[in-house]
Amino acid sequence: MLDEIVKLKQEMLEKLENIRTSKELEQFRLDYLVKKGPLHALFDRMKTVPPAEKPIIGKELNLCKKEVEDKFRLLKEQFDEQEISKATIDLTLPGRRNSKGTYHPIYQTLDKMVEIFVGMGFSVASGPDIEDEYHNFDALNFQPDHPARDMQDTFFIKSDREDILLRTHTSPVQIRVMQSQKPPIRTIMPGRVYRNEAISARSLAEFHQIEGLYIDRNVNFAELKATMMVFAKKMYGSDIKFRFRPSFFPFTEPSAEMDITCYLCGGKGCRVCKHSGWLEVVGCGMVHPNVLRNCGIDPEEYSGYAFGFGIERVTMLRVGIDDIRLLYENNYKFLKQF
Ligand code: DAH
Repeated sequence: MLDEIVKLKQEMLEKLENIRTSKELEQFRLDYLVKKGPLHALFDRMKTVPPAEKPIIGKELNLCKKEVEDKFRLLKEQFDEQEISKATIDLTLPGRRNSKGTYHPIYQTLDKMVEIFVGMGFSVASGPDIEDEYHNFDALNFQPDHPARDMQDTFFIKSDREDILLRTHTSPVQIRVMQSQKPPIRTIMPGRVYRNEAISARSLAEFHQIEGLYIDRNVNFAELKATMMVFAKKMYGSDIKFRFRPSFFPFTEPSAEMDITCYLCGGKGCRVCKHSGWLEVVGCGMVHPNVLRNCGIDPEEYSGYAFGFGIERVTMLRVGIDDIRLLYENNYKFLKQF
């Protein structure tokens, strides 16, 4: 039996020597180390060994088992380690990117605009989306028969009062700021506004504006122009061209609109700029004395300017799109670009 043990041991060690894969190792286990395998068979046969030979044969058999099992365990550990490193790090695979979320282009524009105006000394204020006619129209010097008050332009809200509406612009926040603060006032007021308008490539029923207000002694139109010019250069680059046109708003006198060169055609004239080469970006003007008076500010002592940007419009110019609806469709492929 001693011979058999030595022979089996040699056979098993040789086999182990030539094992190259974990599959082969598993096959070895099934061939030799299971209960019904040859090693166990030898242990079973110990019962029949004469007592005098038992110590020697037993010792040899145990040594054989230990040597083979040690080798087996070592190989198993090696293969397991290889498996783990294969499973977790494949250096040939391309890296996996974490796709980061981004701000919506409208809010990117808003942040940039706020940053520019805060840099010029403006603070930031806000007011309610649900307003009354007084703040949205009367205090802003709209005449009682002004067409903007019409149901067709304004969303009125059903309530026990008849003068409650969704603000049609951010200008009512001017009124709230002037009623609650003493000049000097230098504030911007971003927010959502609502108009009963048909949705098209150029207009939406819900959009964003940013209002600006500066009230102090001796504020003049040149300062307004300079502020708008600095803004345009910071927003669109120093080589941007702009122009001021006279305009009308009930709450400013004189009033103006600033245009910048069309981003699409560079001023040559195209569909987006209606072949004029210019795009309007902001309405502005010197705050009307009636508005100051309505807010308890003496127009003999103080003057000021105001302006109002459409944030969607500024965004369209910034990212180069000609359909405002793209900003609200939440198409991931579109939004991902910005
Ligand atoms: N509220 C105006 C609008 O919605 C925009 C505007 C124009 C705001 C001139 C102003 C301003 O403060 O001075 O069309």
